[in-house]
This record gives sequence, structure tokens and C-alpha cells, in this order.
Amino acid sequence: MLPNVSTMNIAHRGAQGVCPENTLLAAGMGLAYGAHMWELDVSMTKDGVLVVIHDDTLERTTNAAQLPAFAGRAPWRVCDFTYDELKTLDAGSWYVQTDPFGQIAAGAVDDDDIASYKELRIPTLREALEFTRDAGWCVNVEIKDHAHLIGHNVIAEATLDCIRDTDMVESVLLSSFQYRYLEQAGIMLPEIPLGVLVYDEPVADPVALVRSLKAQAYHPWRKNVTEEVVDRLRDAGFGVNVYTVNDAAEMAELASWGVTGLFTDFPLLCWGVLQGE
Ligand code: G3P
Repeated sequence: MLPNVSTMNIAHRGAQGVCPENTLLAAGMGLAYGAHMWELDVSMTKDGVLVVIHDDTLERTTNAAQLPAFAGRAPWRVCDFTYDELKTLDAGSWYVQTDPFGQIAAGAVDDDDIASYKELRIPTLREALEFTRDAGWCVNVEIKDHAHLIGHNVIAEATLDCIRDTDMVESVLLSSFQYRYLEQAGIMLPEIPLGVLVYDEPVADPVALVRSLKAQAYHPWRKNVTEEVVDRLRDAGFGVNVYTVNDAAEMAELASWGVTGLFTDFPLLCWGVLQGE
């Protein structure tokens, strides 16, 4: 079951503030830091394996660009490689090299953890769901918009099959910026809760949008949500889960407005804020 709390602490791509995103280590850290669930991104390989990675390409979060076997294959789109090829990639060293949140420079990351990052691999969706299930935890599965790359709804159908096969229907919140995928979920697995992701453009009638997609929640960007928007959605019986909130004061303000979830790269910080309420 999804958490029955007033505001969910959702570890964005796992605890990606302090370790490489969309890895099982990041998920485990989110759990250890008190998050109610984690969020992951689903993509699909050339041979149809669902994998957990945010970007369309491998360049930012793996060492593909440095490997001879991947030379001449720029821009290294995930959908151009088989899962066997992806399995060879280091999905953690980039974090040490780029220190994306400045946490290594700040001394906030353990040396043993840093040493272990080079062992990290891109998880399959199945591995991620099994990890979450075995931990008795929940996850927000975001299906990346690959309609232009891998055909109509293929990734959505495979994702829904995987959620059903791993017995995770009751522990997944499904979301996407591609609303066709949400409609497909409504057909294939109507019992699964849906979150409607919206970019930074204002939506004239968020209640109508969520209702039209038979979703349970609205997932806006943090700069594009007001107390009035939260009120309208909550009064209509919908959730509001806001991404991505890394500032304690902003977390507290949004929680005071009654948002139902906060996506954060720093779930330990969020845990502290929500404890203080
Ligand atoms: O699902 C919340 C948030 O992750 C959406 O933005 O770009 O991180 O997929 P993005």
C-alpha cells in the first residue's frame, strides 16, 4: 500500500544528492534516510529490457563515452544498446568525477561509499521493483517519454507487465510526462494510482487535467505550484506531489499548504523537516 501519511518524503532517483542516481544504492540510502518511497525513471534498451536511467543517452551517468567498445556510437542513446552492453557500464564513477551536488567536496559522503560507486550498474526495472518489494517499500515509477524512439506505448505496456509480474501493483505510483502512457495504464491496470507530471508551463485547470486522465495526483514543478493550486486539487480529492524540493524552508512551506508529497534529492533533510511539524 502507498504510505498513509499527510506528506510523503519521496527520494528523487533515490537519495541522489549523496550517491549516484537511479541505482539500488541510491534507493537503499533513501530508505535508510526515512523516505516513504523512492522515485525512479524507466527507459528501454534496443532488445526490449526495461532499465532504470533518467537520460535518453548514457553519456552523463555512465562511462560509455570512455570505453573503446562504445567508441563511435555517440550520442549513446539507451535505445541503441542491448542490455548485455549496458551491463558492462560503470554507473557510479561519474558522480565522484562531477560531484553534482557538491556533497563530496563538503565531506558529506563517506570514503567507503565513494570507493564503492565504481561497482554500481544500471539496474533493470525488475531488479528495482524486487528490491523495493523485498524491503516492504514503495516506489514512484516514472516512464520516460520514448514514444518518438520505440513506438507507441511499448514501454508503457512492458512497464505495467513488469509491475504486475513482480506483484507490485499496490506499491507503485505510476507517473509520466507522456499522458498516453497514463491512459494505457488506466486500460491495463486500472487499480494502479497515477500521477500527472507537468513541466514548468502553467496549467489552466489542473483539476480537469487530473480528472480527465483518471489520475490520483498532480506532479508539478516546484516553481509552478501555488497554495491556491494545492487548495483546488486537494478540495477536489486529488494529491499534489511536488518536484524537486531540496530547501528545508520550501519543504516546510509546501507541507503547510497540504501537499501530499515532496520529491527531494535529500530525503534525510526532508525527514527532519517533516518530523518537526
Ligand atoms: O518525477 C518527478 C521528477 O523526477 C520529474 O522530473 O526530470 O527528474 O524526470 P525529472
